[in-house]
Amino acid sequence: MKPVYVLNGPNLNMLGLREPAIYGSASLKDVELRCHAHAASLGLTVDFRQSNSEGELVSWVQEARGKASAIAINAGAYTHTSVALHDALMAAERPAVELHLSNVHKREAFRHTSLIAPAVNGVICGFGVDSYVLAITALHSLITASKKG
Ligand code: DQA
Repeated sequence: MKPVYVLNGPNLNMLGLREPAIYGSASLKDVELRCHAHAASLGLTVDFRQSNSEGELVSWVQEARGKASAIAINAGAYTHTSVALHDALMAAERPAVELHLSNVHKREAFRHTSLIAPAVNGVICGFGVDSYVLAITALHSLITASKKG
């Protein structure tokens, strides 16, 4: 079984240090460990990555087409700006979930628009680290459904 790619965008390497009132005190390493443990409980594996570079994220989404079973992506601020990530996700033809730690709809207006949402199966936001767990659960359902179909 190919791994689920869990892709993290800009500034998520600062998790735990960055605005903890919004993003919590867990580090990205803590998030990664939760993802591996939850994926294993569902019989999945995770390839967990972070980049501050839009181009690198686009390349990873392209790579996912051949190498991943599904994609969970917290694109950080690129969520709100990146046509390139939208286009890469459209071309990936993999089950995909957009996720956010914070409830972006409760925050500044510029966070209310996602350019990548139309290119994924669904969006999860506002549950802190649990957003990652919920995204992996949703992808597990989509992968299972696609095998039955
Ligand atoms: C975020 C929300 C984005 O608006 C922000 O730019 C981030 C983190 C989140 O996980 O809540 O970097 O994606």
